[in-house]
Amino acid sequence: MQTAAKLMKVFVTRRIPQEGMKILSAAAECEVSLWDSDEPVSRAELLKGVQGAHGLLCLLSDKIDAEVLDAAGPNLKVISTLSVGFDHMAIDEIKKRGIRVGYTPDVLTDATAELTVALLLATARRLPEGVEEVKNGGWSSWKPLWLCGYGLSGSTVGIIGLGRIGMAIAQRLMPFGVKRLLYSGRTAKAHATEVNGEFVPLDTLVSESDFIVVSCSLTPETQGLCDKAFFSKMKNTAVFINSSRGAVVNQEDLYEALSSGQIAAAGLDVTTPEPLPTNHPLLTLKNCVVLPHIGSATYSTRGIMSALAARNLLGGLQGTEMPSELNF
Ligand code: NDP
Ligand code: DGY
Repeated sequence: MQTAAKLMKVFVTRRIPQEGMKILSAAAECEVSLWDSDEPVSRAELLKGVQGAHGLLCLLSDKIDAEVLDAAGPNLKVISTLSVGFDHMAIDEIKKRGIRVGYTPDVLTDATAELTVALLLATARRLPEGVEEVKNGGWSSWKPLWLCGYGLSGSTVGIIGLGRIGMAIAQRLMPFGVKRLLYSGRTAKAHATEVNGEFVPLDTLVSESDFIVVSCSLTPETQGLCDKAFFSKMKNTAVFINSSRGAVVNQEDLYEALSSGQIAAAGLDVTTPEPLPTNHPLLTLKNCVVLPHIGSATYSTRGIMSALAARNLLGGLQGTEMPSELNF
C-alpha cells in the first residue's frame, strides 16, 4: 500500500488574483487555506490560520511579528508577501528563525511610477479641484487667474530614494522638460546618469526642488523624515508627493505646512493609518490630494504580483530557488 506524501500547510491571508491561486491549487504538495475575503484578516483569525503552517502568503496590511511567528510554530519555512515593501514584517525575528522571505520587486515598478506621475500632475495642476468645480457649478467662465497650478517644464525635481521606482519616476518625468533632477539617499547611484541625476544632501534637495517625490523604503531612518523642519525648508511654491509609505511623513506637520501656505500642495498615495479616517484634517484641504494606496493597482500588475508571490512561496516550501527572495 502506498502512503500519501505529507501535505504542507499554506495560509493565504486574503483573496488574491487568480493567477497566484491557480499556481497554489495546482501544487500537489500544498494544502491551502485562504482567508476568503477582500477585507483584511483579523488579528485573531491570522493567529489561528497560521498555526502549524509551513508557508504564509501575506499582504502589506498584515503585521508579521514575533507573535505571528510563535503562533505559526516551528514548521514555518517561508513567508511570501504580495508587495515589494516589507516594513510590515519583523525581519530580525524572521531571520533569527531561519525563515525565508519572498517579495515582489520590479514587476510593479512601472505601474507605481505611472501612478506617481499621475498623482503629481493631478496635484500640481489641481485636477480634483477642477473636476469638482465642473460638477458643483463653480465653473462660471474661462478666468485668467482661476485654478492655476505648477508645471514641470523648466522645473527642479527632487526624488528621495532613486531606487527601482524612484528611477522609473525620474525617467517618466524628464520628458516633461524638467531642468534639474536631484536625488538623495544613502548612496549615489550609477544609473542616475541616465536621467542626469545629481546626488545631493537632503537639505539641498528640499530647499531647491519645485517638486519633491518620496519613493524610498520605510526604515527606522526614513520614518518621520518629512517633518516640520523638512517642510519649513521647502519653497512656498513647491509640491510634495509621497508614494512610498505613510510613516515617512509626519502628517500633523504636513497639515500645518499645507494650511499655512508654507508649501503649495501635496499628493499622497499612502497615509497613516490606512485607510485614512474620513474626518482626517488632511481631507479638508483643497491643496491635498489623497489616493487609497493604488500605486500598483493595474489588473495585469496585480496578476503578475500574485503569480510571483505564489512561486516565491512554492520555492520556499520546496527548499529550491525563489524567483524573488529577499536577501537580508
Ligand atoms: P528600492 O529598494 O529599489 O528603492 C528604495 C530606495 O529607498 C533606495 O533607492 C534607497 O536608497 C532608498 N532609501 C533607503 N533608505 C533611505 C534613506 N535613509 N534616505 C533616502 N533614501 C533611502 O525599492 P522600490 O523602488 O522597489 O520600492 C520603494 C518603496 O516604494 C517600497 O519599499 C514601498 O514602500 C513603496 N511602494 C509603494 C507602492 C504604492 O502602491 N504606493 C507600490 C510599490 C512600492 P539607497 O540604496 O541609497 O539606500
Ligand atoms: C508594495 O508593493 O509595497 C505596495 O505598497 C503595494 O503594491
